[in-house]
Amino acid sequence: MTDETVKYVLPESQIPTDWVNLLPDLPGEPLPPLHPGTLQPAGPDDLAAIFPMALIMQEVSPEAQIEIPEPVREVYKLWRPTPLFRAHRLERELDTPAHIYYKYEGVSPAGSHKPNTAVAQAYENAQAGIRRLSTETGAGQWGSALAFACSLFGLECEVFMVGSSYDQKPYRRSMMETWGATAHRSPSELTEAGRANAEHPTGSLGIAISEAVEVAASRDDTNYSLGSVLNHVCLHQTVIGQEVIAQMELAGETPDVVIGCVGGGSNFAGLAFPYVREVLRGNTRMRFLAAEPAACPTLTKGVYRYDFGDTAGLTPLMAMYTLGHDFVPPPVHAGGLRYHGDAPMLCGLVRAGLIEARAYGQNDVFASAVRFARTEGIIPGPEPAHAIRAVFEEAEAARQAGEARVILLGLSGHGHFDLAAYEAFLAGRLEDPEFSEADMEAALKRLPDAPAIA
Ligand SMILES: Cc1ncc(COP(=O)(O)O)c(C=O)c1O
Repeated sequence: MTDETVKYVLPESQIPTDWVNLLPDLPGEPLPPLHPGTLQPAGPDDLAAIFPMALIMQEVSPEAQIEIPEPVREVYKLWRPTPLFRAHRLERELDTPAHIYYKYEGVSPAGSHKPNTAVAQAYENAQAGIRRLSTETGAGQWGSALAFACSLFGLECEVFMVGSSYDQKPYRRSMMETWGATAHRSPSELTEAGRANAEHPTGSLGIAISEAVEVAASRDDTNYSLGSVLNHVCLHQTVIGQEVIAQMELAGETPDVVIGCVGGGSNFAGLAFPYVREVLRGNTRMRFLAAEPAACPTLTKGVYRYDFGDTAGLTPLMAMYTLGHDFVPPPVHAGGLRYHGDAPMLCGLVRAGLIEARAYGQNDVFASAVRFARTEGIIPGPEPAHAIRAVFEEAEAARQAGEARVILLGLSGHGHFDLAAYEAFLAGRLEDPEFSEADMEAALKRLPDAPAIA
């Protein structure tokens, strides 16, 4: 046995007591969401039809810290604090002087970071007397997380699952049903938004969101729940980064670069924002790197504009990088990264130059994931595999520079329900779907007529 430490674990007593709210520290004036009908700034009352007031208040809070309710911390104990690993074997495999660490969120009951916010959202909705939650899911990670959280707080859960994932991942559906949820293939026949999009049978997150919002808006006992993008979702995920700060202290190191994948931005925000706050306050320096699919390159190819969060234009408009709300990304296996926009807070930081973004093709991503699995053991979800690809590039840059740079990776979930994709990759059958500039240009022509952003 060597004396190398592999795992940095914290006791339950070190589950954070507060979430980190980056909103008050962000540079520049915040750009408010706009009402989808009037295109005027949307206030808390505009959101009250589909969200409980406690979450709306978190969405707009000027406080730097928000206390985590005790019943939520109690549930977090089921899997938190999550482990931080030092990837010694991967470092040797890559022949890099870099020190690579990864924070593993796949130990949660649903297998990803998503329960961090699902539990908080189910709790606040139950407190507000709501009986049912409707939502969308891409890969099924978010739907299963919310199904799990609803089962703990006695809520019904109705999930619209993106068609391509519904077909690729039948066992994610069984998982949701095991926790008592109902799952529909989207686009479905059940909603106007679904029927209007029947010509896109593979579906998209934007279409599924429209379906779930429509159901919530039409029933008093039902609220809507979103697994990413919104400020309060990014907020709930900051338990990840706060634990990491304590764990990196145990390791006696500070990251030079923090790397995560971005679908709507929540795991990246959760990992990075507690560090971003320290950077914004001038207490430390480090780089932040966001990885996304080349087939859905929101941050690297999108435009920074006000756009709807969903396809049908039911949600408030947000200032973000977007490919156009009705752009339908090709059906890559990283279903959780097939979204036309990204969290406004994260987009603002990309625009300000604090966060870099890179896009990767599906085969490169799976090649990296397989190499990771063969050295570190964990089979990563296709989403965080994008971040692993970026880690490989940074490890190579460190090798060429001959520097022992510290790389921190967010490993947001496992890939146990994504083995059909691994099978296709191993058999040499995995496609690299092309991003269509022409489809994006066409979708951008249909952007709402909102005020331009300076
Ligand atoms: C494991 C995993 N990672 C990442 C994502 C992307 O979402 P976000 O950018 O909100 O973290 C998802 C979405 O479903 C996911 O399941």
